[in-house]
Amino acid sequence: MTETLRVELGARAYDIHIGTGLLSAAGAHIAPLLSRPRVAIVSDEHVAGLHLSTLTSALDAQGISWSNLSLPRGEATKSWPYLQQVVDWLLTEQIERGDVVVAFGGGVIGDLVGFASAILRRGVRFVQVPTSLLAQVDSSVGGKTGINTTQGKNLIGAFHQPSLVLADIDVLGTLTERDFLAGYGEVAKYGLLGDAAFFDWLEVNGPKLAAGDVPARVEAVRRSCQMKADIVARDETEQGERALLNLGHTFCHALEAATGYSDRLLHGEGVAIGCALAFETSARLGLCSQEAPSRVRAHLKDMNMKVDLSDIEGELPDADTLMALMMQDKKVKAGTLNFIMARDIGEAFVTSDVAPSVVKSVLTDAYS
Ligand code: GLY
Repeated sequence: MTETLRVELGARAYDIHIGTGLLSAAGAHIAPLLSRPRVAIVSDEHVAGLHLSTLTSALDAQGISWSNLSLPRGEATKSWPYLQQVVDWLLTEQIERGDVVVAFGGGVIGDLVGFASAILRRGVRFVQVPTSLLAQVDSSVGGKTGINTTQGKNLIGAFHQPSLVLADIDVLGTLTERDFLAGYGEVAKYGLLGDAAFFDWLEVNGPKLAAGDVPARVEAVRRSCQMKADIVARDETEQGERALLNLGHTFCHALEAATGYSDRLLHGEGVAIGCALAFETSARLGLCSQEAPSRVRAHLKDMNMKVDLSDIEGELPDADTLMALMMQDKKVKAGTLNFIMARDIGEAFVTSDVAPSVVKSVLTDAYS
């Protein structure tokens, strides 16, 4: 059961394969890209422990030699020291311009290894083999790569498209429920931003997805990737429409900063809460009916996801501090923050015309 999508980017176009058994078939998919039969794999220790042998057996079966570097799991790995370690290792491994690097893991590994590939020898190709739902539906597609610094998330990076994405739905079976649902925050985002029929479908099929239904998982990843591929093909470097993919992210980034980028709030959980807050703000601005945020909240609650600020463990700073954290967002231009608002479910748009007093009242009410 495999679906193939194409990200139409001219000379940088690539396929996304979504389905089951893809890890076991990875050698056959990667072989046509190679100028010599070898690859360098960078993974995280957790993913490597679970799935590396399946990937390497598939490479062995095609006569592709490989070496592997496994890094610690977690957001702290997306940083200067590990970028240096990856680049040093790839140079030591004598990875050449014509070679291919395999990013095997979740969003942290994909972003880090994509960036290392972008700067190694002024750019080598890389393949994304995403192992989390979040990476399969969002970060592995579209070529945003980079690292975090003390000043903020993703402030250093490059657009560098992968040459291939292999999204094996089987590997989602080893995710914890919390990690799966965090990724689901990004899935729901696609319905909310541009496809009301997909959101209708998720309202019916979401619980089935969470329970492990494989055809439903393939369908959800396919529809998410299709929307992302289409948007990226039209606006690769986020001059306009691609910003819609940041629905919920302005609120999310402030909440992640307020919780110290810790386990208190996973990125996808913040996206889900952020989407609920964005719809609430849209309703208060009279852009959409109150029914829309009510449906968003009801669905997230049905999925046992975090919806309110009170669902985040521990103390949070007050609404003024969260507002100040929002102003650190990459999307601030000349002191004005661009928001993704919605006219209805599936109808998001970008605007800078959002009164701070309304955002503050939404945040203040979200504490209770
Ligand atoms: N995650 C948002 C984007 O790729 O544009």
